[in-house]
Amino acid sequence: VKGEGGLTKVVLTNRQSSLEVYLMGATITAYKVGSRDVIFTSKQSKFESLKAIRGGVPLIYPQFGPGKMQQHGFARNVDWEVLSTLVKEQEDLVQLNLSIHESEYTQKVCGDADIKFQCTFTIKLNVDRLELQYESKNTGQKAYDFQLALHTYYQIASIHKAHVTGLKGFEYIDKTRQMALTKETADSIQITEETDRVYKNCTTSPLELVDTVNQTKVILHSPDNSLKDVVVWNPWIEKAKAMSDFGDLEYLEMICIEYGNIDKPIVLQPGQTFTGRHTIQPTSIQQSSL
Ligand code: BG6
Repeated sequence: VKGEGGLTKVVLTNRQSSLEVYLMGATITAYKVGSRDVIFTSKQSKFESLKAIRGGVPLIYPQFGPGKMQQHGFARNVDWEVLSTLVKEQEDLVQLNLSIHESEYTQKVCGDADIKFQCTFTIKLNVDRLELQYESKNTGQKAYDFQLALHTYYQIASIHKAHVTGLKGFEYIDKTRQMALTKETADSIQITEETDRVYKNCTTSPLELVDTVNQTKVILHSPDNSLKDVVVWNPWIEKAKAMSDFGDLEYLEMICIEYGNIDKPIVLQPGQTFTGRHTIQPTSIQQSSL
């Protein structure tokens, strides 16, 4: 169907949840369980070809952060195509497979015409959980490496009343303090300033994002530990003001928790495939499911 800015979006629904994904960037912009919005998308976001959507689940590939390519690579701002859809009524599962491969544009961004790939992004909407899978196959003759992140923006009632658990004891690169390497000592992380951290190799057990106003949480995991690092990001006051596609006060109602492989890029030989898996399970604080 037609979404914002005339861009095409696909809507998936099952008995209890629904999801919207734009083909531009394969960006999931809404995920609801019942009436609860799990994902944050900025009201100021532009919806234009070749422009990353502000919010949702932008796909960061093949480069994270500043580097020789444009910031965060190209996967989040190119058009993906629908490979297949699958509905398993008995399991209440709806699945969508989207894909991209190299183009003149991606070769220009990479600065290398020999980098060839097929990437598939699979979205599995279960009744109580979202399963995401990012597959990258080297279809060319040349080896290359890449970084990857599912740059998920979560909707929370208040940043002052939300916290993240499960990162104690892990080291992080602090991008707000000249990349200082720091060990996390807190059982639960509360955001009180601009925060931009890459927690390294920290995904053997699930993390939890807890919203104490709504009495809800989201359980995050990479079940096969294929996505090894986690970025925690909130732009806070000044950065929020500086971003033209983000409301000045929207930093209060979002937090990014991004699963990926950032610290150690993945190397792919010709013909090899990498698969990264991530699950997002919204629950209430009392019960194990909504
Ligand atoms: C985070 C990075 O993943 O994304 C931050 O760690 C960055 O450094 C943020 O500011 C937003 O990036 P962008 O390109 O979407 O403005």
